[in-house]
Amino acid sequence: MPEILPLPDLLISQIAAGEVIERPAAALKELLENSLDAGAQSIQVHLEDGGMQSLRVSDDGCGIAASQLPLALLRHATSKIATLDDLQQVTSFGFRGEALASMAAVAKIRLISRPAEAEHASEITAEGGILGTPMPCAGNPGTTITISDLFFNTPARRKFLKTPGTEYGHCETAFIRMALARPDIACSLTHNHRQQYQLKPQSISERITSLLGDAFSDAAVTLDVTTGSLRLSGKILRPTASARDTQHLFVNGRFVRDKLLAHALRQAYQDVLHHNQQPAWCLFLELDAREVDVNVHPAKTEVRFHNSRAIHQFVYHSVHRALSTPLTATSAEPDTAPTVPENWPLTMPSATRPPATQKPFFSHSAQQGFTGWIAEPAVHYPANQRSISATLPGNTNNTSNPEYAPEHPLGYALAQLHGTYILAQNETGLIVVDMHAAHERILYERLKTAMIQQKMASQQLLVPLTFDVDNATVATAIEQNESLRSFGLDITQVAPNTLAIRALPQLLQQTNPIPLARAVLKELAETGHSNQLEAQRNQVLATIACHGAIRANHTLSLEDMNALLRDMERTERASQCNHGRPTWIAFEMTALDRLFMRGK
Ligand SMILES: Nc1ncnc2c1ncn2[C@@H]1O[C@H](COP(=O)(O)OP(=O)(O)OP(=O)(O)O)[C@@H](O)[C@H]1O
Ligand SMILES: [Mg+2]
Repeated sequence: MPEILPLPDLLISQIAAGEVIERPAAALKELLENSLDAGAQSIQVHLEDGGMQSLRVSDDGCGIAASQLPLALLRHATSKIATLDDLQQVTSFGFRGEALASMAAVAKIRLISRPAEAEHASEITAEGGILGTPMPCAGNPGTTITISDLFFNTPARRKFLKTPGTEYGHCETAFIRMALARPDIACSLTHNHRQQYQLKPQSISERITSLLGDAFSDAAVTLDVTTGSLRLSGKILRPTASARDTQHLFVNGRFVRDKLLAHALRQAYQDVLHHNQQPAWCLFLELDAREVDVNVHPAKTEVRFHNSRAIHQFVYHSVHRALSTPLTATSAEPDTAPTVPENWPLTMPSATRPPATQKPFFSHSAQQGFTGWIAEPAVHYPANQRSISATLPGNTNNTSNPEYAPEHPLGYALAQLHGTYILAQNETGLIVVDMHAAHERILYERLKTAMIQQKMASQQLLVPLTFDVDNATVATAIEQNESLRSFGLDITQVAPNTLAIRALPQLLQQTNPIPLARAVLKELAETGHSNQLEAQRNQVLATIACHGAIRANHTLSLEDMNALLRDMERTERASQCNHGRPTWIAFEMTALDRLFMRGK
């Protein structure tokens, strides 16, 4: 057995550096965090060759006294914590006292600093772990740290660096994260002497637009939810929009990569996101520092929550609600309701809400030949409301049209196009609705609610309907009998390869039962052993909804169409079908006018 020897100090630092400083962007992140911890209000970053050649960060923070400069570069020396208790409620970014020491072990460092009360600045240099002596020099209050020749003495590490362009990209990301977390701070980024960013102090919303672009901001929903000591704020992208890869999540101002939070967010989007679309968010979670442990990994991009279940629930529900706010959502719960569907593709009518007595009333109407439509009241409009001024030729339905009402942002039906789309008119223009997709979503949400409230009532069929199936399907029907009943379906075996449907979910009495039963059995056979009960349940409900929803080439009366529009307005997540596609699109008059070059 070879002799055991203590490692030399430099090697210890180089090993430690491997965990924290894996590339220029990691060094930049550490320097930016130090500047923020020093209370800087303004931070300038200068990079050369993606930070591989050099990387300089200047701030106007509290500075370091000349006598303390060697300590700043010493491993395990910090001004930020002193006891275990401090560690357990740390609010600064740094606390390990090793970032600068790590950089000093694998690069050349020049540190110039001046506390506001000092008469002049002082500097210290270090190269390959060897410290120079502090010397007076010229400099403004604050600190400037230059890191050059990163990994000059660890060639194996240096080999892993990519092109300057790639390394710059990573540095830019680190800069953007800092700038998003602290919109109150002025900051700039220069690369190879060209200024890339110059940001004044801004509101968070302005900062998000400056950094993530109008495309993200315009298509995002703003959210700000507080529950007890938890707060979640920021912007999330509406599921029908697409944006560049934007997933910024901060916990107490610290950018983190957290599986728990990522899971909660993915789940919140699950119902509404089209499968090849990426969700996007810029979110800030704030909570008591004692409730979160940041001492998990040296790079500090992972955290551990003491009450992870509560955090998961809070994030999931906040985002889920913000994504599903129905079009006519009012401020029913101002304290907890996520604010603002800021940018629905539709501009809400500006007319003021009519008094309650003028609201449309509802009554039942049996729609002949309207198979697939759920047993839900259709809408009639009171005759005392004024008509919409423009109607299409052929709009002879004698239900009088009401004036535009703010609670009906989807407007009023004009016609049906090729048995597929509903054309409706609202105050600002034309609304086109994919009727199957919209109805499918409404049904799906209604089925989910019924299921959750255990009100999935079923309706006995007067005459059981039989159909032939293979052995595997018979087995599924027998094994999953309980599940089928929970969905309101009663299916029994009546012959070796024949099943009989005896009852259907009440919500879809008009649906053709046999294709529905086959689809549900197939779904259960595939997902039957899934341990994710809820996912399985929702999938089956989605199948039921798809079968229950009105099909193309189904003629709808204006009344039917208006009833569907009103249903959409009341339904959560009605702007996307179950597969994440949009259910409706608005064409504003101004856009149509532009197409026809009116007013040019
Ligand atoms: N820009 C700065 N302005 C003022 N003081 C600084 C600055 N950068 C570093 N320091 C001082 O140097 C010390 C060492 O910095 P370093 O980044 O190595 O450790 P840390 O921030 O305390 O902990 P961590 O390793 O977790 O980052 C800090 O504790 C702080 O006192
Ligand atoms: Mg630090």
